[in-house]
Amino acid sequence: MSHLAANGPMQQLEEWDDFVATRYRQGKSEEEFRNYEADANPGVTQFYRQNHANQTFEFVLQKKAGYCGLTRGKKSVWEMAEYLNTLVDESDPDTDLTQIEHLLQTAEAIRKDGHPRWFILAGFVHDLGKILCLYGEPQWAVVGDTFPVGCAYSGEIVFPEFFGANPDSKVPKYQSKCGVYEPNCGLDKVHLSFGHDEYIYHVTRRYLPDEAQYMLRYHSFYPAHKHGAYRHLMNAHDEHMFEWVRKFNPYDLYSKGRERPNLQAILPFYKDLIAEFFPEQIDW
Ligand SMILES: [Fe+2]
Ligand SMILES: [Fe+2]
Repeated sequence: MSHLAANGPMQQLEEWDDFVATRYRQGKSEEEFRNYEADANPGVTQFYRQNHANQTFEFVLQKKAGYCGLTRGKKSVWEMAEYLNTLVDESDPDTDLTQIEHLLQTAEAIRKDGHPRWFILAGFVHDLGKILCLYGEPQWAVVGDTFPVGCAYSGEIVFPEFFGANPDSKVPKYQSKCGVYEPNCGLDKVHLSFGHDEYIYHVTRRYLPDEAQYMLRYHSFYPAHKHGAYRHLMNAHDEHMFEWVRKFNPYDLYSKGRERPNLQAILPFYKDLIAEFFPEQIDW
């Protein structure tokens, strides 16, 4: 049941995640993937219109300067998870998972496959950056597939035609293949469209191994980790680390629909896990 008005905004953040999961449904052919627009509801289409038009090079630099210095105070990881959980939509509570449930489902799926504790923890924290919404950021600056700004847009990005409305598309120095970057300079030097990935990477980077940092920072960078785009900006280390980004992705995409996590039963495990890697409070 959808409450969306034609061309209305996405009502819930999850609509983007659901759209991504539909696009990459297991076993879907490349041709079916190309028809993804048919799967997008008007809210999702409108979302990408705004995202592609407004994520300019300048915008990204400005948001990074505003958030990545972590000047919004100290809070524990669990407090932030509970804060994020207040982002509950008004639609059917029986079918939609809360934010904490999505984090726990992702983490539990990783845990069941016997992966290391830092990997499970990466699953638990991967979407905490969505608290940007609670700071007042619009959805198009929080979620959505990410892509480099300051260089040519890849045709592998969803709805590439919407970039025509981005002012950067008229700036020649931003539209050559490598744009403002050196070939194979490494993704750390490349500015991606701003969103929850970049923010949670900065919040957690001091406490998690490199593999986890890549998972968090690039989990929405579908043009690269699903489609192999932008290899001309990646270095050998990125290529190696993207194996971990790809290892993480199915847990994010396909853990939905598994049984609802029993919060009371698994809470002690997650409290211990958080305490093992993070101090009581960290900078946000
Ligand atoms: Fe995410
Ligand atoms: Fe997620």
